[in-house]
Parts: sequence; C-alpha cells; structure tokens
Amino acid sequence: MASKLFSPLKLRDIEFRNRIFLSPMICFAVRTAFHRIGNFVHYGTRAVGGAALLIQEATAIAPEGRISLGDLGIWSDKHAEAFKRITAFVKAQGAVREFNLPMRDERHRDDSLVGR
Ligand SMILES: Cc1cc2nc3c(=O)[nH]c(=O)nc-3n(C[C@H](O)[C@H](O)[C@H](O)COP(=O)(O)O)c2cc1C
Repeated sequence: MASKLFSPLKLRDIEFRNRIFLSPMICFAVRTAFHRIGNFVHYGTRAVGGAALLIQEATAIAPEGRISLGDLGIWSDKHAEAFKRITAFVKAQGAVREFNLPMRDERHRDDSLVGR
C-alpha cells in the first residue's frame, strides 16, 4: 500500500497539504530577544521545508501561566504583533500554525514566576 504521508488531509475546515505535523517543542535556545528572531527562523524554515502543521510550543496567555520563565507568551499586543509576522510567513508557505497552551498545575508550582 502506498504511503499517505504526502497526501492532503482535511480536518473540518482545515486543509493540510500533507500529514507532516510538528509536535510542540519548547526551544529556549533560539530566543535572544523579545521579538525572538529565532522563533521566526525555527517555524519559518519548517514551513519552507514542507511541514503541513506547526504546533507552536507552549505559549502562555498570562505571565503566571508559564511553566518556566523562558516560555513563550501572548499576553500583550507586542507579543501578538511578533507572532503575526510568523503566522503570515508560515501561511504564505502553505503551512498551518497552531498554538499550544501550557498546562501548569501544582506539579509545576514556581511562585517566582508570579508578577514577572
Ligand atoms: C525538547 C522538547 C520540548 C517539548 N515541549 C513541549 C511543549 O512546549 N508543549 C507540549 O505540549 N509538549 C512538548 N513536548 C512534548 C512533545 O510535543 C511530544 O509530545 C513528545 O516529545 C512525545 O512525542 P511522540 O509521541 O511523537 O514520541 C516537548 C518535547 C521535547 C522533547
């Protein structure tokens, strides 16, 4: 039987160009500044490379929702602006980008994060 890896897939309203999906993987090493050019390169190159879905790593909607200080966040317009550029590029390459919300509970308790 032929592999379906490179055949398109439709899930509800979303069409994927193939079945290559990138798992969310936190990558602190690519961050050097607030707007994180490394994130643009990381997701952008995977889109150029042909992946259909890029699930962006854990991205907190509030500072206290982060599991660690290095987590990505989207609690300000400045964050949204930075992500918009990545999304536009990824989309132009024919890939889909989703966000992964971090799950933080008592096991991840680190009060040093609150208020930062
Ligand atoms: C370095 C690294 C970072 C990860 N970061 C996240 C993350 O931000 N969010 C998440 O839900 N899972 C994260 N994971 C889990 C992966 O997305 C994936 O579920 C896990 O590696 C198991 O993959 P597999 O089922 O294909 O073996 C991470 C895994 C690794 C190795």
